[in-house]
Amino acid sequence: MPLVAAGGLLTAARERRGAVAAFNVITLEHVEAVLEGAERAGVPVILQISENAVRYRRADPLPLARAATAAAEAAAVPAALHLDHVRDPELLRRAAEAGCSSVMVDASHLPYRDNLAACAAAARWARANGLWTEAELGVVGGKDGEPPPDPHHPEARTDPEAARAFTAASGVDALAVAIGSRHAMTTPVAALDHALLARLAERVPVPLVLHGSSGVPAAELAAAVRGGITKVNIGTALNVALTTGVRAALVGDTEVVDPRRWLADGRSAMAATAARLAALVHRPPPG
Ligand code: G3H
Ligand code: ZN
Repeated sequence: MPLVAAGGLLTAARERRGAVAAFNVITLEHVEAVLEGAERAGVPVILQISENAVRYRRADPLPLARAATAAAEAAAVPAALHLDHVRDPELLRRAAEAGCSSVMVDASHLPYRDNLAACAAAARWARANGLWTEAELGVVGGKDGEPPPDPHHPEARTDPEAARAFTAASGVDALAVAIGSRHAMTTPVAALDHALLARLAERVPVPLVLHGSSGVPAAELAAAVRGGITKVNIGTALNVALTTGVRAALVGDTEVVDPRRWLADGRSAMAATAARLAALVHRPPPG
């Protein structure tokens, strides 16, 4: 089916008190695995391409975005395309051309005023072009090349009153919040601050987004969705599955040369991970 808008998926998820899994895709195998996983779970999904992934793909978002669009159009579940962690304003403005219906402005490392100015400008442009904007307030941290922050440091957390004011002043459609998760964790051991999430959900009128969800245990993720998280960003868990699957295939057959043989194992492992997490956040079990 044709690509759907990420905003519509998040609005619907909120109404049914569930969430949408947003998976970071780097290769075509990621795209295929995420769609296969979502089909297996029978739930909608968001495919997201980060600025880092764009850089890896010869600094052009179009080839992967076009492949993702074509694959999504052939899928049996609704899928949306999102441009993730964008710092380059030029890239931001290519989101629509790439088929993305939402963009995340990565400016929370800047002082509050500069983050606000960048997000307000992006939101104005995005709205005029029919796109949603996601901002981040607080420090999730742990992105490529960043020193690992302490996610439990109070200054890293999103302040509920600041989040309310920021959302109203910037006009963004969704807000990523720092409640104890961190990017690029390869094992799910993060503890979330559910009391803080409850205060954020009470004050912030737009859907809340959890970044660094690979590091969050399943029970914590389900509780976060029940507590008001509407978009669950997952990247590293797919990469762990891919690499583990490929490594096992290569170790198991040292003569193999056809990449389809070992890539397929990595892709199957990613599809299983995507199916499990997409189903979990779509309809979290009662706590
Ligand atoms: O925006 C992307 C996510 O926050 C992914 O984080 O790789 O730690 O799951 P993760
Ligand atoms: Zn993120």
